[in-house]
Amino acid sequence: MRERAADLLEWYDRHARQLPWRMPPGCGARPDPYRVWLSEVMLQQTTVAAVTSYFERFTTLWPTVEALAAARDEEVMGEWAGLGYYARARNLLKCARTVAEKGAFPRNRAELETLPGIGPYTSAAIAAIAFDASEVVVDGNVERVMARMFAVEDPLPGGKRVLREKAALLTPEARPGDYAQAVMDLGATVCTPKNPACGICPWMGYCQGRKAGIAADLPKTEPK
Ligand code: ADE
Repeated sequence: MRERAADLLEWYDRHARQLPWRMPPGCGARPDPYRVWLSEVMLQQTTVAAVTSYFERFTTLWPTVEALAAARDEEVMGEWAGLGYYARARNLLKCARTVAEKGAFPRNRAELETLPGIGPYTSAAIAAIAFDASEVVVDGNVERVMARMFAVEDPLPGGKRVLREKAALLTPEARPGDYAQAVMDLGATVCTPKNPACGICPWMGYCQGRKAGIAADLPKTEPK
């Protein structure tokens, strides 16, 4: 499975989306954990396009977790307006205050998950992206990519367990943070829900869904 990760990372080095919370791929420097955490919380139920301007505004007003921790609740809630899911904003402040008191973000997934507003997905994403831990990061995009790569026809949500196992098989030890974001970018720009651009996919040669001619029909979902 190692060559699959290597091929995707090579693609990411050329095609990564430039997003304000990212470092250029392969630059060697790690992004600021505060910015990674803030972006991941904002992205929990909201698109990249909608999050970008909010992220810029928050990091201008509050460039560090200590600054955010010291902000007035009403001001933060006011700036959050429009992003929706206000429990996220309340947890954001609680989390900022806990981290500011501790002195830093914890580096491992288990400790990250004890913080308000950080569940299994977000803890894995922060550990991988901010601290380069080899964690398996699975969101809806990743599930779609895995369902197609391995032609998994088990419908969602029941199929989630199998898709996570497939994602774990592919996750590399090298550059796991870039890899996690590379799969997200692949899902967002190439392996899209409708009309996937299989002809330009770095995983074209490996994709069992494409080989079987069913990629665009995956993942399946259980009838309600
Ligand atoms: N969705 C969730 N996290 C993301 C990230 N780091 N980059 C792009 N899309 C994302």
